[in-house]
Amino acid sequence: MRIGVLTGGGDCPGLNAVIRAVVRKGVQTFGDEFIGFRDGWRGPLEDDARELGVADVRGILPRGGTILGSSRTNPFAVEGGVERIRATLQSRGCDALVAIGGEDTLGVATRLAELGVAVVGVPKTIDNDLSGTDFTFGFDTAVNIATEAIDRLHTTAESHHRVLVVEVMGRHAGWIALHSGLAGGANIILIPERPFDIDKVCAQVESRFATRFSPIVVVSEGAVPIASPDGSGMTLQSGDKDAFGHVRLGGVGERLAQEIEERTGKEARAVVLGHVQRGGTPTAFDRWLATRLGLHAIQAVHDGDFGMMMALRGTDIVRVPLSEGTGELKLVRPELYEEAEVLFG
Ligand code: F6P
Repeated sequence: MRIGVLTGGGDCPGLNAVIRAVVRKGVQTFGDEFIGFRDGWRGPLEDDARELGVADVRGILPRGGTILGSSRTNPFAVEGGVERIRATLQSRGCDALVAIGGEDTLGVATRLAELGVAVVGVPKTIDNDLSGTDFTFGFDTAVNIATEAIDRLHTTAESHHRVLVVEVMGRHAGWIALHSGLAGGANIILIPERPFDIDKVCAQVESRFATRFSPIVVVSEGAVPIASPDGSGMTLQSGDKDAFGHVRLGGVGERLAQEIEERTGKEARAVVLGHVQRGGTPTAFDRWLATRLGLHAIQAVHDGDFGMMMALRGTDIVRVPLSEGTGELKLVRPELYEEAEVLFG
């Protein structure tokens, strides 16, 4: 078969591991040929692609980013986008497509599959907010990076008797904040799913100082105060929207630090981890998960099981309909947050 591969949306550690696994198994087991589309859906939309052989994927397993490039291009927002994609797949002799992405990229794959395009999906995002799978690859790496940062911030916060607010990624879901906050022993964790009460946050800051230790507050970029829980209270870096309608978030950490300082009289500083969480080499877990997802994706293509997304359930890789993965975001359940709350303050 001739198979197209693309990586779309925000990059994340492990993308190259998937590409490698797909190509290695495809060539070695099935004698496939591969076409790598550049920059997500922009590749098939603008017919920008390269041949992809085993030699091209040698040595990329531990490398962050994606050798294919990525973008947030949405073909459904472009006049005649779907027809252009079909035309590219036909002219390139593509029998099937492996799309590696998050809610947006796989959302497009879901709609294309419904229109009869032969596509299988591989879930990726550091946010871990895709349904149907226990974890997405990239998440473990982001959590480890954030945890290491929190560990380091504890010691400097304590030397200076300061509050340190750590802003992590997570637009709608607080998975990175929750997991890194628990692993790093944060004193307060604020997530988008649970609008925060600034009075309560300040009380927890005070109670931590009373123990002679300094508080670490971990906040997701999409966290909002209870005064405006509907999302209008999100702190934006810019009001500009991408092709999928997302605004650029950022700044809630700084806003919180200022508010805490004003209300408690304690010095408070903010640290924004930003894209550091998405860069560099994947953890062993993410390499393992990404590789297995890739191996199963190419098998699904050869089984003709299109419209499916590879997913982790326990330690097994299973197939679920793409629509199940992208229909609804996987948010932090209230009981998981409440479990962590006992350690706050
Ligand atoms: O979806 C992954 C993610 O890292 C989000 O956590 C974050 O809000 C967004 O991407 C940032 O996107 P960009 O790199 O395009 O600014």
